[in-house]
Order: sequence, then C-alpha cells, then structure tokens
Amino acid sequence: MARPLVADIDLDALRHNYTLARGLASGSRALAVIKANAYGHGAVACALALEALPPGVRPPAFAVACLEEAEVLRDAGVRSPVVLLEGIFEAKELDRVEALGLWLAVHSEWQVQALLAYRPQRPIPVWLKIDSGMHRLGFPPERAADVWARLGAAPDRVADRLLMSHFATADAVDPSDCRKQLDCMRHLAAALGAPVCLANSPATLAWPQAHGDWVRPGVMLYGSDPLACPNEASRRLEPVMTLRSEIIALRELAPGEPVGYGGRWHAPRPSRIAVVACGYGDGYDRHAADGTPILIAGRRAALAGKVSMDMLTVDVTDIPEADIGSEAVLWGRSRYGAVLSVDEVARHCDTISYTLLTGILPRVPRRYVGPVDPVTAA
Ligand SMILES: Cc1ncc(COP(=O)(O)O)c(C=O)c1O
Repeated sequence: MARPLVADIDLDALRHNYTLARGLASGSRALAVIKANAYGHGAVACALALEALPPGVRPPAFAVACLEEAEVLRDAGVRSPVVLLEGIFEAKELDRVEALGLWLAVHSEWQVQALLAYRPQRPIPVWLKIDSGMHRLGFPPERAADVWARLGAAPDRVADRLLMSHFATADAVDPSDCRKQLDCMRHLAAALGAPVCLANSPATLAWPQAHGDWVRPGVMLYGSDPLACPNEASRRLEPVMTLRSEIIALRELAPGEPVGYGGRWHAPRPSRIAVVACGYGDGYDRHAADGTPILIAGRRAALAGKVSMDMLTVDVTDIPEADIGSEAVLWGRSRYGAVLSVDEVARHCDTISYTLLTGILPRVPRRYVGPVDPVTAA
C-alpha cells in the first residue's frame, strides 16, 4: 500500500473562486495569478482548467513571477496572455519573452532601457510598475510621467501600456495606508490617461473602488481568505487543496506521558494518540503549535507534540471511531463534509496560508479532480 498522503486539488473549486473574483470586479478584467506553481496547486493544471472555461468568462490573462514559470505554461499548451509580474531579470530574456508572446512588467530603469534598445518583431505589452507606498518594486510616482512617455514614444517596441501597483495592506482592518496608495494611483492614472491594475485578492474582495481596469487575484483563487475581517464575499470561497492522509498507528498513554521530539506535549489525562503520515518533510509547518486543528474521520482533533519529518501526532481521545486507516485532513474538505480552512491552520503556525500552500513539497502527489482529465503531478 502506498503512503497515504496526497494533495487533492479541486479544479471546480478553483473555477468557482475565479468566477467569484470576476463577478466582484465585473467592470474590470480579472487575470489569474498562478505564480509559484499556482501557489503550490500545479500551474499547468490550474491554467488549463481556467482556460477551459467558456469564452468571455475565462481569464483574459495569467500572471507569473518569471520567464521560467511562463515557459512551463507555454510548453503545456497554455495559449492565453501571460504577464511576467517582475519582468525580465536580464536583458537577454527579451528574445524568449517575444517568442512566447509574453507581457512584461517593468519596475526599474535598466529594464526600460533594455526594452527600448530591443527590436521586437511585434511590440510587447508593458505594465509599468509604480511604487505607490509598499517600497518594494516600482518607479517612484514622480517618475511615472517620464517613463510612461518614453515607453509611449516607442510604439514599435511597446504596446498596450498600463500602470500597475501593489497594495501592502489591503487585507488590514485599518484602511488608511491602502487609501493613500489608491489615491496616488488614481491621480497618476487620471493625469496620464492610463489604464490601471492594482487589486490583489484582498482588494478584489473588499476594495471595489480599487478594481480599476484589471484585478490580479491570487490566493483567493485557491480558496484562502486573505481578509483580517472576512466579508460576505470571502465566506463564499471554496478550498481548492485538501491535504489528506491517514492514521498509520495508535497508542494509549497514561497521564503525564510525553509525545514526540523534546516531549513538548504531555498527556493531561488517559489519552489516545494517532500517528498521521504527514510531516515537515512534506512541507507541513514544523512550527504548528499543540492544538493545531486536524480533521480525523471528519471530526476536529488537535495536534499533540512537535511535527516530525514524516509524521505528526494527534490527540484522538475524544474520537473513539479513529482507527488505523481513518482519514486525516490537514486542511481542506473531509470526505465526511467538514471543512478545515488553511487560514485557521496558518494562524496556529504563526504564518499565512501562502507559505503553507506553496510549501507543500514535490514528494506529496497532487491528485486533480474536476474539469481537466485527472492528472497526477509531482
Ligand atoms: C505583484 C503581485 N500581484 C498580485 C499578487 C496576488 O496577491 P494575492 O495572492 O494576495 O491575491 C501578488 C502576490 O504576491 C503579487 O506579488
């Protein structure tokens, strides 16, 4: 019998979440952010599932971080436009950008110079990235007009210019910083007569005034709610990944007995401990605290003891039906109907869903269910 750990990827849920994002921003075009292997879900399967939506409701473009990620998509037959969110990392990538028909973000002067020195067969669509307050990538707002004009003066090299920026705090309860970034970009867009793309998932969900011409949802497509305060829309997200395993051993412990490395957890009462095949060698977070929820046979149970490389231990004292082979859901949807959100697990690990989802390692097989032929990818 094979090791029971698998990441089930529900492509119907992905399509549901994309359709939700698109509906929330119905006056905008909604690209789908599928960088980092679609946040660990498998970029090719996710792109193909979204591309298979009917014309008019499928994503008009995808976004990835770099050329290598775009190449994987093109090799798999994904034909939609693909935006490189960080643009090129060296000038010689422009040949591949052109050959693959990619769209480019430009965030730095050297990228602009490389682009303007390049002679493409057809002009390349360019998204000019502005640093409106996050202070990570992008031109300062006061340089926007100059760079915008230089790009506009090269219609043989640059097509379809757009202004983009990224929010630092669209998920937060306090709206003040996000509003400043939004004001900055609205001002620039009006002054330059430029289309804009600003909204990540939290802004797509909670900032309709930031939707602009394009929205760029990422994590919400995978069913994670990025908002500090969930809203009516975010509650309709469906989990896409279910990290599913089984109990492989059980033991009874007397009160006071320790469990696992370092003996972090001690049985507070006569306890039944289940060993589940999933560990940090699979990407499950070793920082998961005692009490981190896990669904055992569809019922909530709690992590007891430090996560090992290949296993973790769960207190199933109150789940008498737990047995060898019982289902253990680390996050996602149990066969018994219960759902455990990856966001809740992340809080117990002092992290965010993004790191848990992107952290699932290749040794966990992905098993796809939904509109694309079942594919199993490492
Ligand atoms: C530039 C950019 N746009 C959009 C996104 C999508 O963000 P989210 O996953 O929060 O929707 C990201 C994610 O990191 C990003 O870096």
